Amino acid sequence: MPKITSVIGLGYLGVTQAAVLAHLGHSVIGVDTDKNKVKLLKQGKLPFFEPGLQDLLNEGIQNGRLSFVDSISAVPKDTDVHFLCVGTPTKPDGSDVDTGYLFKAIEALAPVVSENAIIVGRSTVPVGTADQLESRLGQLTSRNFHLIWNPEFLSEGTALRDSLEPERIVIGSDSPSAEALLKDVYSAIIAKNVPVITLDRRTSELVKIASNAFLALKISYINGVAEIAEKTGASTSKLAEALGLDSRIGQKFLNNGLGFGGGCLPKDLSGFSAIAKENGAHNFYNLLQAVEKINLDRIGRVQEIAKNMLGDLTGKKITVLGAAFKPNTDDIRLSPAIELARHLHQNGADVWIHDPVALPKVLDSISDFTLNPELEDAISGSDLLVLATEWAEYRQLNPTVLKPLVRKSLIIDARNVLSRKLWQDAGWSFEKLGEG
Ligand code: UGA
Repeated sequence: MPKITSVIGLGYLGVTQAAVLAHLGHSVIGVDTDKNKVKLLKQGKLPFFEPGLQDLLNEGIQNGRLSFVDSISAVPKDTDVHFLCVGTPTKPDGSDVDTGYLFKAIEALAPVVSENAIIVGRSTVPVGTADQLESRLGQLTSRNFHLIWNPEFLSEGTALRDSLEPERIVIGSDSPSAEALLKDVYSAIIAKNVPVITLDRRTSELVKIASNAFLALKISYINGVAEIAEKTGASTSKLAEALGLDSRIGQKFLNNGLGFGGGCLPKDLSGFSAIAKENGAHNFYNLLQAVEKINLDRIGRVQEIAKNMLGDLTGKKITVLGAAFKPNTDDIRLSPAIELARHLHQNGADVWIHDPVALPKVLDSISDFTLNPELEDAISGSDLLVLATEWAEYRQLNPTVLKPLVRKSLIIDARNVLSRKLWQDAGWSFEKLGEG
């Protein structure tokens, strides 16, 4: 049965959650205190790029099931389910996760929650956060409510598929009635045979952070292997293919290269490290620290290759292809591509950046580079190209066509997606990571 829901926090997760719930037939009110963002969404404009989401946003606005407000006080009192999707960034000193926005949301919700409403946390949080939020709300309202946790696992770039056909739904709850209500909200998804795992709230909080830290570990594992492959004359891509055919290991997340970035993996890795330390799991803490170090070393490795190819970088035009932390998103948070560009710039290079969608986000936050939306202009007169984000359009670059445009035909494929043979046959010096 359709439900009245609110979605609090309209970032990548919240907007997707709101649009998907409306698509499933529920009546959804999205809330964010950022008035500008709410204004854009009301006009049917997405504040970020996510494939396919625009259509769902249009659909929800047109059929009247999806609306947006800039204050929780405007959420209808008869709302059955409130989804908490606010950000939980790392604190400025890097020590911990800041759950302040969740507490602000809970405090603003207190006058709005109806008797027996359920509040569903979706943000990634330290263990025990749900307990604390529940007790805070309990201090502020005399109504009965249930607070349950339902971590999200969507990836940017594939957010719709991950939401509509997830590999699992995890529900952390000690209330059978709240669990049943949430399953009812998701019934159209669950009907597609999606496994639902119900567990206690603390375990559900840990599932998410442990998942992301494991993905980070897998990437650093293959990047560590790449260091050995480079020294021993082996091929990391071939090795990964062979490793991944063992179904216990699996093919995914074994692409070596510039390493992981974004708003989730780095944050959750350091969050999980902090949990390991706090709980005296010292060896595990050291393992997670090593994962982070291997990841950071990737930037240095590409810089080293650039220096080997060009000598002194001062004044050299280096074109970094890609700014987003991965393809199919305009998110540049902790993007390895931007981090690399920054290092090259600090070493005196004249850095130009191209990205098919993320340049406006770069423009908003960084001023050190020349940004060029035209690929040809960005590449013209370049001394070195570095493929840093594996957008489809870079995979299809034609080295013969590009050669007359550049000053020196040098390229580093830092994401292992180009054919060495094709580029070398066209007269380019070609370097990639993880090949001896
Ligand atoms: C990640 C998780 O994959 C999602 O399951 C999770 O829900 C989400 O975080 C979240 O916490 O909200 P996302 O940050 O969108 O999703 O990006 P990923 O697809 O995980 O990629 C992360 C980084 O790893 C990217 O920089 C990517 O280029 C890099 N990566 C990925 C590699 O370097 N090698 C690989 O083999 C795979």
